Amino acid sequence: MQQSYQLCCPCHFGLELTLCFEISKIGGTDIAAQDGRVLFRGNDLTIAKANLCLSTAERILVQLGQFPAYNFEDLFQGVRALPLEQWIGVNDAFPVKGHALSSQLHSIPDCQSIIKKSIVERLSSVYHVHWFQETGAVHLIRFSIRKNIVTIYLDTSGIGLHKRGYRKNANAAPIKETLAAGIVDLARVNSQSIVCDPFCGSGTLLIEAAWKAMRMAPGLNRRFQAELWEQIPQGVWREAREEAVSNIRHDGDFTAFGFDIDPKAIALTEENCRKAGVKPRIHIQQQDIGDFQPPEGAITICNPPYGERMLDIQHAQSIYRIMGEVFPADKNHPCHIITPDADFELHFGKAAHKKRKLYNGMLQCCLMSYFRDIQR
Ligand SMILES: C[S@@+](CC[C@H](N)C(=O)[O-])C[C@H]1O[C@@H](n2cnc3c(N)ncnc32)[C@H](O)[C@@H]1O
Repeated sequence: MQQSYQLCCPCHFGLELTLCFEISKIGGTDIAAQDGRVLFRGNDLTIAKANLCLSTAERILVQLGQFPAYNFEDLFQGVRALPLEQWIGVNDAFPVKGHALSSQLHSIPDCQSIIKKSIVERLSSVYHVHWFQETGAVHLIRFSIRKNIVTIYLDTSGIGLHKRGYRKNANAAPIKETLAAGIVDLARVNSQSIVCDPFCGSGTLLIEAAWKAMRMAPGLNRRFQAELWEQIPQGVWREAREEAVSNIRHDGDFTAFGFDIDPKAIALTEENCRKAGVKPRIHIQQQDIGDFQPPEGAITICNPPYGERMLDIQHAQSIYRIMGEVFPADKNHPCHIITPDADFELHFGKAAHKKRKLYNGMLQCCLMSYFRDIQR
């Protein structure tokens, strides 16, 4: 029987349940949502599928151990007791990164160096060498210390999973791909949907919507750190990729429309859609929000300008008022708008039918959803 590991995916606050559902679809077990992350169990194949297929996970971590630590000795001994040689070979590199919160151990550089020394001591006793060249595959060790509990993880993803490979260039305020994927899921986009984004920027929401509709695994155009590890057989990655490719659907009628006032954003969206392989499904046009008319049955998804300085905020709010005039925001024209403005509904002129708290980076936002018949 294949070995089962405790796995952990950090995610945007508010997307935990979406991620739980995604994990259940790739065969993860013992799934448990916590604030900003989901824990689950799985084997080598689950690690490969998770990296390839989970659209709302930030990265896939193997949890190596967890223990209390109130001082450096506790930290050193706790790390030294972990079977690190199961993962880290004699030539492998093992950089250490992490964070601490509400704990006696709070100096990150000191914790980093204690953990590094402890790993060296553990591996020295196993490999009988005292100097590690670290010229092999990178096995990034991540630590988290919260309320004096240390958790040690191994990062299987490398570059964050939001990097899909289609958005090398972005406009000034792009939404993160993983958050966009979560919004698309909450908006219930499927293979037959018509989707509009009247503020498409670099096209992220449109591309994530198209990929979901076509069941395109978001990691198919990139590589992951653990693909270089001897500990996960190459055949496992091959199997996961072949399955992901065979799941892609080209038969649905999914279509999307992207608009933006800025011609540079239009060019960027076109380029990114081409790179993402969804250009034939997406129609892009320069247009001011005042001229927006959603097709019947289309789902509108957007992150309009936020505005950070006072003048920008007033401009953003005038845009919300125009949106209120041009978005029917009813059963036949559902719309989902992410905004940090607590008074959004006031400017838009309609109370949301559902509000979900979501974080765009450190910024607390709300996804305002409108999908019911107008109340008379
Ligand atoms: C927050 S950005 C959207 C980012 C986009 N979701 C992405 O991931 O790249 C807002 C966009 O609204 C556009 N915009 C600003 N005023 C507009 C208007 N009056 N009509 C249409 N688009 C407008 C900007 O050009 C910008 O691209």
